[in-house]
Amino acid sequence: MANSKYEYVKNFEADDRLPPSNWIVIRIDGVHFHRFSSIHEFEKPNDSAALCLMNSCASAMLKHFPDIVFAYGVSDEYSFVLSEKSEFYQRRSSKNVSLFVSYFTSAYVTKWKEFFPNYDLKELPYFDGRAVCYPKVKVVRDYLAWRQVDCHINNQYNTCFWMLVKSGKTKREAQLRLKGTQTKEKNEILLQQFGINYDELPEMFKKGSCVFRNKVEEIVKRDESGNSVKRRKNIVTIDHVDIIGPKFWDEHPYILHEDCSMVNNNYEYVKKFEADDGLPPSNWIVVQIHSCDFYRFSSMHEFEKPNDSNALYLMSSCATSLLEKFPEIIFAYGVSDEYSFVLSEESKFCKRQASEIVSSFVSYFGSAYVMKWKEFLPDRDLKEVPYFKGRAVCCPKAKIVRDYLAWKQFDCHISNQYNTCFWMLVKSGKTETEAQLRLKDTQEKEKNEMLFCQFGINYNKLPEMFKKGSCVFRNKVEEIVKLDEGGIPVKRCNEIVTVDHVDIIGPRFWDEHPYILHED
Ligand code: GTP
Ligand code: MG
Repeated sequence: MANSKYEYVKNFEADDRLPPSNWIVIRIDGVHFHRFSSIHEFEKPNDSAALCLMNSCASAMLKHFPDIVFAYGVSDEYSFVLSEKSEFYQRRSSKNVSLFVSYFTSAYVTKWKEFFPNYDLKELPYFDGRAVCYPKVKVVRDYLAWRQVDCHINNQYNTCFWMLVKSGKTKREAQLRLKGTQTKEKNEILLQQFGINYDELPEMFKKGSCVFRNKVEEIVKRDESGNSVKRRKNIVTIDHVDIIGPKFWDEHPYILHEDCSMVNNNYEYVKKFEADDGLPPSNWIVVQIHSCDFYRFSSMHEFEKPNDSNALYLMSSCATSLLEKFPEIIFAYGVSDEYSFVLSEESKFCKRQASEIVSSFVSYFGSAYVMKWKEFLPDRDLKEVPYFKGRAVCCPKAKIVRDYLAWKQFDCHISNQYNTCFWMLVKSGKTETEAQLRLKDTQEKEKNEMLFCQFGINYNKLPEMFKKGSCVFRNKVEEIVKLDEGGIPVKRCNEIVTVDHVDIIGPRFWDEHPYILHED
């Protein structure tokens, strides 16, 4: 259904393409293999047949997917490395991960009988997976080294653990015996108590399994003089070698070969690095901005404590400027040094690209703050440049936007009450620590009583702006434009950006302004 009115739903599909020129590692891991291994009576700690089955599946993967350049497996996990140049499924993460776990699992079930001829599958095996990007060969090698070190540590521990258990110790006793032991000590336990030389255990257990394409020369035929004609062939190979040191990589330089040549002879591919950060459609967008290092900024400019009215008016005035500049903003709520701006669920502002929306808002707000400074704080020079950080949050329902705003207003009340008490105590001669201790664990009622009895302040009579923060929105007001012939006024509905300090936790404000968070 090309171009139908329903097609907008396509925009819900997030773009999960992995960044170009990065090596991709897809690690898959058996789900609940602790149970799976126990109901299928895998040998402890290592079951050769189970490990060989895993390796056989990994080998099938390399044969089927040419983009995989290397695989490393241990226990119930396998990591598959895809070349940095891979364009498999346009590098889409979910496609790659799902294909890999699916193919691997099918192979596991198909090959089960080959490795466990005497056991039926009693439960379906399945794997989860994830993709990670690594920008450099060095990091891919470090990743693989990390997995191999892990294999060694786990294998040594598990070998000791199960030998102790098999010799009659309980699991708890075995655990306690091994607690805090180093490599050397574990090797000694194995040798002295069980006659096992750790170094002589199978390489597959100690080093895990590597699967890669080995370049081998093959004689295809003999020429007329009887000389052999050779051809280089890539054979998928399973080996159990050290991949922490450089030897293996020096011997197989083509596996993780970093290609420095230009892609398709043009530079355009760099465009793909620009990640799409579009926010999902049909969601309300809340952009929260917050000043940086405000404590320092407010002390330096001697803002009154706990609330400086002029500084708060300045903030509201900047928010008003934003609503006047950007019609997409339908509501704003501010307290202290932060402001939240709400955009309608249908907004197409900046194509809903989060970074563009957030940066435009913080930048415009910062500009207004500096421009208007003298208007609100005429007796003070701006000693340092103020700046703001921001972020965007998506709310799928109007109710959630209201809950978000209610949360902010509730927070405003709690902080204001605490700060009012705190600074009154400090102004009355207490140190900041003493004031803190005095207020620790006090409830709302107790704080109000303290203000009233000790300082004669009725909290409820404090300015609404301090107690409720500031709401900025478009108020619909009727204006008389002219009188008609019969002398009857002709009215027009105007929208005026208004600042108010009202309760937005209860329904009243929203009932009176139903057009603000109107759900389509
Ligand atoms: P999730 O991956 O979180 O679902 O848990 P899991 O139960 O699969 O455990 P995890 O992946 O952390 O660890 C793998 C588990 O598989 C090990 O703890 C073992 O119990 C089991 N396992 C893997 N290989 C072998 C084996 O060769 N022999 C035995 N006996 N168990 C194995
Ligand atoms: Mg697992």
